[in-house]
Amino acid sequence: MGVGAAASSGGLMTAAAPSAASGRYDFKGPVAISSRNGTAAVRRAMEEIQAGADALDAVVAGVGLIEEDPDDTSVGYGGLPNAEGVVQLDASVMHGPSGRAGGVAALEGIVHASQVALKVLRRSDHVLLVGRGAQEFARMHGFPVQDLMTEKSRQRWLRWKENLSKDDEYLPAHDFDDATIGQAEGWNERHWGTINCNAIDLSGNVSGVTTTSGLAFKIPGRVGDSPIIGAGLYVDNEVGAAGSTGRGEANLESLASFLIVERMREGDTPEEACLYACRRIASRTRPAYLLDGNGRPRFNVQFYALRRDGLVGGAEIWGGRGQFAAADSDGARLVPLAYLYEAS
Ligand code: GLY
Repeated sequence: MGVGAAASSGGLMTAAAPSAASGRYDFKGPVAISSRNGTAAVRRAMEEIQAGADALDAVVAGVGLIEEDPDDTSVGYGGLPNAEGVVQLDASVMHGPSGRAGGVAALEGIVHASQVALKVLRRSDHVLLVGRGAQEFARMHGFPVQDLMTEKSRQRWLRWKENLSKDDEYLPAHDFDDATIGQAEGWNERHWGTINCNAIDLSGNVSGVTTTSGLAFKIPGRVGDSPIIGAGLYVDNEVGAAGSTGRGEANLESLASFLIVERMREGDTPEEACLYACRRIASRTRPAYLLDGNGRPRFNVQFYALRRDGLVGGAEIWGGRGQFAAADSDGARLVPLAYLYEAS
C-alpha cells in the first residue's frame, strides 16, 4: 500500500492511513534503531559499532542502559511487576551472521535480561529458558540476583492492587460477543512498555534485541511477545531485522516480526512492511472486548524495522505523534512512526 492510501483491513471500518514518507530514513551504512525510549540505547550501540563491535554486542550494550534505569518502568530494574508484585522479565536476541537466537522468559531478579538471553545464545544449545531455569542459568554465569522493585514501581503496583476489582487480567466466563468484558475504566491504558533495538555494524551484519518487564500487573507466568523469536524480534542477515513493542498477545497471534522480515524480502520497505503487520493484526482481531465501536483494535502495537542496506522505518496501529529512535555516525534522533489510525 502506498503512503496515505486507504487502509485495507479485512472488512473493518477503515480510515485513511497517513504515514511518514517511506524512504526518508535511508542511512546507507551502520545504523541502530529502537523504540522511542531508546535514544540512549541507539547512541551507545552506534558508539560500540564505530569502535568495531558486532551489531549484537552493540545492541545488547545499548539496551543495558535502559534495563538498569530505575525511571524506565517498562524494562529491567524498576520494571512494573506482575499481579503478585514480582518483576518478571522477558528478552530475546538474534544474531544475523550465525542465524542463532537466545531468549529468557519470566526471569526474576536479574537486571540485564538481554545479557542472559545473549548467554543462552552463546553458551547453550537452547533458544529459550524460562522462570527458575533461566535464573539458575544466569546465576551459573555470575549474574547477581536482586529485588528489581523500586519504590516507584511498588507504589504503582499497590495502587493497582487496591483497585483490583475494576482492573485485572482475569476474565470471568463470558460470551465471545460480550463487548463489556475487560472494559473497566483505564483498561486500554495498561502499560506494555518494552525496548526493541536493531542495528547494522561495520561489516554490514544485522542483529537485534528486545527486552521488557512485560505487561504491568500481568498474571504471574504470563509471557509476552518479546522473548518469542518471530514475534517480538526477528533477524535475517540477508534481509534485515524487525521488532515490536505494545500488546504482546496480538503479536503472539500474528508472529509479526517474522512477517515483516518476509515482507521486506519480497520488496516492501521497512515502513510498508510494518504497516502491513499493523493491518494484519487489525483485520484478525475478533473478540468484541478488544474492538472499538468501529471495529478497530482498542490496543496499540508498534513495529520497528531496518533493511540490510540501511533503510529504516516503523509503524503503529494508533498514531500521529509516535516516534522511534535512530542513530548513525551523525548521532541519534527521533523519527516519526507511520500509523494505521490517527489517535485522537
Ligand atoms: N510487548 C511486550 C509485552 O507484551 O510483553
